[in-house]
Amino acid sequence: MTITVIGAGYVGLVTAAVFAELGNKVYCVDVIKDKIDELKRGEVPFFEPMLSDYIKKNLKEKRLFFTTSYSESVPKSKTVFICVGTPPKTNGEADLSFLFSALRQTAKNLSGYTLITIKSTIPIGYEDDLEETVRKYAKEKFEFAASPEFLREGTAIADTLHPDRIVIGSSSKKAQKMLLELHAPISGERIITDMRSAQLIKYASNALLATKVSFANSIAILCEKMNANVTKVLAGVGADRRIGHPFLYPGVGYGGSCLPKDVLAFIAQSTRFDYDFELLRAVDSINNDQIERFINKIREALEAKEGKRINLDGFSLAILGLAFKPNTDDMRDAPSIKIINRLIDLGAKITAHDPRAMVNAKKILPHVTYATDISKAIQGKDALVIVTEWPQFAQLDLKQVKKLLKKPIIIDGRNLFNAQKIKEAGFKYVGIGQ
Ligand SMILES: NC(=O)c1ccc[n+]([C@@H]2O[C@H](COP(=O)([O-])OP(=O)(O)OC[C@H]3O[C@@H](n4cnc5c(N)ncnc54)[C@H](O)[C@@H]3O)[C@@H](O)[C@H]2O)c1
Repeated sequence: MTITVIGAGYVGLVTAAVFAELGNKVYCVDVIKDKIDELKRGEVPFFEPMLSDYIKKNLKEKRLFFTTSYSESVPKSKTVFICVGTPPKTNGEADLSFLFSALRQTAKNLSGYTLITIKSTIPIGYEDDLEETVRKYAKEKFEFAASPEFLREGTAIADTLHPDRIVIGSSSKKAQKMLLELHAPISGERIITDMRSAQLIKYASNALLATKVSFANSIAILCEKMNANVTKVLAGVGADRRIGHPFLYPGVGYGGSCLPKDVLAFIAQSTRFDYDFELLRAVDSINNDQIERFINKIREALEAKEGKRINLDGFSLAILGLAFKPNTDDMRDAPSIKIINRLIDLGAKITAHDPRAMVNAKKILPHVTYATDISKAIQGKDALVIVTEWPQFAQLDLKQVKKLLKKPIIIDGRNLFNAQKIKEAGFKYVGIGQ
């Protein structure tokens, strides 16, 4: 099948690369010319494991094409996947301006019946607007479907080839058939439903994942007060198959380009539909508070308390991990941004290291010294602070770390280390909920 993917971001590029790998002819369109030029040369603008190999291979085999031109791609395509960003507006609602712009361009270039499949995460209630926007410009017959994306950055290719489920939201039998055929080589449960329910599946899933994280963080707070061990508590809770382990981990709070914005957008949508989503407001509030709780842990570990004043003047800290999660260079809404800005406001000097995200971090966090390796980041600092749980940080040689640090203090925002072992190695160790 010939398809067009609109938006060469995380979702669009992975979708385009995987459908091309499965034998389809895929055009991937973006408005940013430099990005398209790089992609034509096989250069991927961000780090995602395996993506570059898939793109290079399919460019070479002439199944994948990059362009800025809708007219070069849309008329040849049976379905157009919309994968543009839906970032948050200041009031928490999703900004749909990229979506409507992509739809107008698509509509002007339709040729023959075309299925417009929305992969972007978009709020419920805009179906008539989508329809009207396309109808205004389209001379051809078209239909809409929603097929929300559930990939995780860092494992996006594997997630797209082996998803838990493929959601197809359209009441048109023709649209359902087309999407089922296209996804035939991909495993995973098929959930066929109407468009609104499909969109709601996406928001409800992210809301529940965020709820698990905030729940774990609340249990961690209780564990600290009750002198219990959160790692054991949540291992015991998650072992129940009705609950499960994933996302039941405490830390510095959820971040990234999806959970924070989708939680806020879901709260805003619920309000528009006359429902106060109290539970989700609490999830968001717990998540926001987690940053200040972590700052207080750092302050207390350094004994940087002067009466009620919080002051980190004269303290130098090594921060390990900047990306919002391991295996990505994505800094969008990464907890590291709020943590570092707050520490700098309090007077601390920050040296940071991340295996992949330093180029992006430099644009957002200019007042940080960036270290090319872990040893350089740690050397001579008052404490080591873990913000992202890159697996290589867990392999640190503790004897070496102790020699390099000015004071043997580790504040671990991801419970990456075994508290007992670290303490036995002579460190003052502060984790979350232990
Ligand atoms: N990133 C994820 O992990 C993830 C996972 C699931 C769902 N989603 C959802 O998928 C959507 C896309 O997310 P993303 O992370 O890939 O975004 P992104 O910001 O990485 O990419 C979006 C791309 O769309 C391009 N674009 C904007 N307007 C355009 C237009 N009119 N025509 C062509 N291209 C245009 C941008 O230049 C950009 O390259 C969002 O709704 C997001 O919530 C993202």
